Amino acid sequence: MDQYVIKGGNPLHGEVEIGGAKNAALAILAAAVMADETVTIENLPNVRDINVMIHAIENIGAQVERVDIHTVKINGTTIHGFTVDNEYIRKIRASYYLLGALLGKYKRAEVALPGGCDIGSRPIDLHLKGFRAMGADVRVQRGMVETEAAALTGAHIYLDKVSVGATINIMMAASMAEGRTTIENAAKEPHVVDVANFLNSMGANIRGAGTDVIRISGVPKLHGTEYPIIPDQIEAGTFMFAAAATGGDVLVKNVIPKHLEATTAKLLEAGCRVEEFDDAVRVIAPAKLRHTQVTTLPYPGFPTDMQPQMGVILGLSSGTSTITESIFENRFKYVDELAKMGANIKVEGNIAIIYGVERYYGARVGAPDLRAGAALVIAGLAADGITTVDDIYYIERGYEAFDEKFRKLGGEIQKVSSEKEIQKFKLKIVS
Ligand code: UD1
Repeated sequence: MDQYVIKGGNPLHGEVEIGGAKNAALAILAAAVMADETVTIENLPNVRDINVMIHAIENIGAQVERVDIHTVKINGTTIHGFTVDNEYIRKIRASYYLLGALLGKYKRAEVALPGGCDIGSRPIDLHLKGFRAMGADVRVQRGMVETEAAALTGAHIYLDKVSVGATINIMMAASMAEGRTTIENAAKEPHVVDVANFLNSMGANIRGAGTDVIRISGVPKLHGTEYPIIPDQIEAGTFMFAAAATGGDVLVKNVIPKHLEATTAKLLEAGCRVEEFDDAVRVIAPAKLRHTQVTTLPYPGFPTDMQPQMGVILGLSSGTSTITESIFENRFKYVDELAKMGANIKVEGNIAIIYGVERYYGARVGAPDLRAGAALVIAGLAADGITTVDDIYYIERGYEAFDEKFRKLGGEIQKVSSEKEIQKFKLKIVS
């Protein structure tokens, strides 16, 4: 099993280039099969979840040409199956986007119930409520969601909870429904806007993405397009927080600073200096981080996907901080791992009370999920001594060349797959 072995203590310095947004890309890959012509998608991150989605659409007959590691051409006109189920697709949450895409275009779909990181109960009732409102039959049986519609018709849909997945899924299906759909209490995340822009570039008619009311007028056909995916705000935030945790100075390039406002605000409160450029942000850490309070919220609030990374930096700050997790109930699993490194954090329900410590110490920890795993890598880079992070499979689901990017910033981190390689790493760093 692969692990990261990290010798902490080096402040990160230099520049890092951010890739395309994983969560936008997953939806865009699914939506691409709805077009009657070839679609070119650029700035795809080369990460495991994306490759699983690409295989899933290939498996149902779409033609996928990998132009380079970050670009694919997809032609969905050859699709011959509507059942998506395999060991891998069951592991990714975004498999649900194939429901909206196939239902929209072919009026039927059967997709294995979504998996993804175990960060709490992750129902898809709102997605299904939306499909039913548009006239689809939906059955959930034997771990599959089966949906079918004689005709899909526009509807007025109120989302009881702000859900990124439900907003995007309903938007995709509604793009090819008859008539007009309104989604109220829609999610406003940058990737909702990106998917809407992508669908519109194929001829869809979506207005209001980025606000809480999205209006979609269905169209009978979608055409080809060439589309670059927006930068990944969570990858960007992860490197910004790594700069803060290690006492570093990092220019994070290829970002949209507006998407990072909540992250930037918390770094400023923690005492960092943040300089914004057109498509980059520079984070300069203070001598000592300050405590603060954070609550995760839907965009433009502080993202739940940055919560574990925030926990790591607050664990090193002066005083007592709190984090309130309001989106998912099981997102503090990194706390026990971080405690092995010396953190002093108490979790009560959905609140973590963080008593800052002077430093972390290297330890053997396991990545409980994607973002928690990234957070533990940051802790390892900041810690005294050597940290080993197990289960990096999770991290590779969403971060491309994670170790390489940190090495370029001066972090001593290596991906290893055996005890022998760990010993080699240790010998290298003492010599
Ligand atoms: C997406 C992201 C995930 C991120 C999350 C919140 C992908 C593949 N994943 O997940 O990284 O953490 O947005 O920004 O893009 N809910 C329901 N019923 C539903 C759907 C959601 O009750 O049908 C609840 C969830 O349990 C959660 C909240 O709504 O409490 C938000 O979930 P949602 O925005 O849908 O998250 P995902 O799309 O699963």
